[in-house]
Amino acid sequence: MSGKVVGRLLGAGDGRLSGLGAAICEGVAPLLGDGSRMVGVARTAGGLTSTEGQVKKASAKVEFIPVVLDLGVASKADMENALKSAFGGANVPSPSRVLIFHNAGSLGSLKYLKDQVDQQHVQHSVVTLNALFMGMVRSLAPSAAIEVINISSLCAVQPFKSWGLYCAGKAGRDMLFKVLAAEEPNVTVLNYAPGPLDNDMQMIARTETADDGLRSVFSSMKNEGKLLPCSTSVGKLIDILNSKKFKSGDHVDYYDE
Ligand SMILES: NC(=O)c1ccc[n+]([C@@H]2O[C@H](COP(=O)([O-])OP(=O)(O)OC[C@H]3O[C@@H](n4cnc5c(N)ncnc54)[C@H](OP(=O)(O)O)[C@@H]3O)[C@@H](O)[C@H]2O)c1
Repeated sequence: MSGKVVGRLLGAGDGRLSGLGAAICEGVAPLLGDGSRMVGVARTAGGLTSTEGQVKKASAKVEFIPVVLDLGVASKADMENALKSAFGGANVPSPSRVLIFHNAGSLGSLKYLKDQVDQQHVQHSVVTLNALFMGMVRSLAPSAAIEVINISSLCAVQPFKSWGLYCAGKAGRDMLFKVLAAEEPNVTVLNYAPGPLDNDMQMIARTETADDGLRSVFSSMKNEGKLLPCSTSVGKLIDILNSKKFKSGDHVDYYDE
């Protein structure tokens, strides 16, 4: 990748580099040119500090900028400040390629829909964040190619019992980014389903899923070594982005040919 700035919105987890976001940073960093900037967003500082160390090891050319922010409650101004950190300060970069990874996500309540009585709704902060991102790139780096990567899931296209809210959230996000692709022919948009990852989210899936059958599927996958290291999935994501064999807005799964 030749881009000079990566605007990356992610959760970096609890400092163990267990999350996909941290693996994206680590995997993408060596592909970036001198003077590149990478902004990482998470609610907790520990994971960001650890990610910063991993990025430094992966590439001396990339400056990692940690931003502690809860994207679920962040205001427009908070998001603008996070994005500005990629472009502000001395030696303002003039990137040829700018990427954003919408990675932050959590499973939420894993109950059957008949038991979902608390008022919950699909989170749309990603829409605001993405609009602010595109506006900022276009005003500060008008010639840069924009790539938007939504970290999706098999749950966007397949129903999982007792995962109704998560499935609906992922399906809704996929459609938002499909619409973005239709509206913005000059922007590359990818909905990437990373496969089942061997990390904290899967541990929650194995223990908190209300549906017995689904819970035991997750346990079997862990016991049979079928969960993927995050770095393996990130390798595939980078191959997909570089090969450009997808149509903008497509949902592409790790297991797709
Ligand atoms: N694990 C899987 O098997 C799997 C499969 C398919 C898709 N995915 C998707 O992959 C993405 C990454 O998940 P993961 O597996 O890496 O799980 P994870 O380890 O729990 O990572 C999620 C990250 O998102 C961050 N985050 C959550 N809510 C946030 C918020 N409101 N604001 C800012 N950051 C937030 C968390 O960091 P903080 O806690 O520090 O905020 C956490 O590090 C998610 O979108 C998930 O839906 C995962």
